[in-house]
Amino acid sequence: MQKDLSNYRKSYEKSELTEETVKENPMEQFQKWFYEVEASDGVDEPNAMTVSTIGLDGFPKSRVVLMKKFTFEGIIFYSNYQSEKGKAIEANPSVCLSFFWPNMERQVIIKGTAEKIAENLSDGYFESRPIGSQLGAMVSDQSNVIPSREYLEEELIKLEKKYEGKEIQRPQFWGGYLVRPISMEFWQGRPNRLHDRIRYALQEDYNWKIERLAP
Ligand SMILES: Cc1cc2nc3c(=O)[nH]c(=O)nc-3n(C[C@H](O)[C@H](O)[C@H](O)COP(=O)(O)O)c2cc1C
Repeated sequence: MQKDLSNYRKSYEKSELTEETVKENPMEQFQKWFYEVEASDGVDEPNAMTVSTIGLDGFPKSRVVLMKKFTFEGIIFYSNYQSEKGKAIEANPSVCLSFFWPNMERQVIIKGTAEKIAENLSDGYFESRPIGSQLGAMVSDQSNVIPSREYLEEELIKLEKKYEGKEIQRPQFWGGYLVRPISMEFWQGRPNRLHDRIRYALQEDYNWKIERLAP
């Protein structure tokens, strides 16, 4: 099988990123871009991001999750703490998050450390989820091999019966991670492959050093 994609070519012309106009704090710059992407209406899930971890097998692994909150501290997502990513983070909390917003010709790459958020915060978010999502999180022994699709559906029916009319508690194995950035790179596509890349690196004095990288 063979397919040649060498003629796939696009000129990026939507915007620019300069040292003079970027915000001093990278999370503020992130907020600015995120709001612009949201307002652009051209991305279904602008909060979808790739999380890469270093696995117990030594290989990096990336998968998409949904960012559920961002603050000056960093970025929060929710997952199963016993999943493949959960075990990877427990052994090595160094992670990389990346966003690609094609309609704006933008990419953001964040290196940082992941930590579990406070239990009451995970509880609060879990309670805010629709019952179907709550039960779905409970039923899924995420990343483990299961016998069949039917098995999952049967387990869900059992849980639905068990919890009918009852309040559902967040399972201990499910909750949020906060990724505290140490480096944030903003990539804006530009014509002739001379893209803008501005990287913020956290210094020992907790100030952010802003540098331009070659595209
Ligand atoms: C659009 C999209 C959103 C997703 N959101 C989440 C999420 O917020 N949390 C999560 O644990 N998995 C989410 N997933 C599933 C993950 O990509 C992945 O399959 C799952 O977390 C298991 O990953 P692991 O086995 O590497 O731990 C999402 C997948 C897609 C495509």
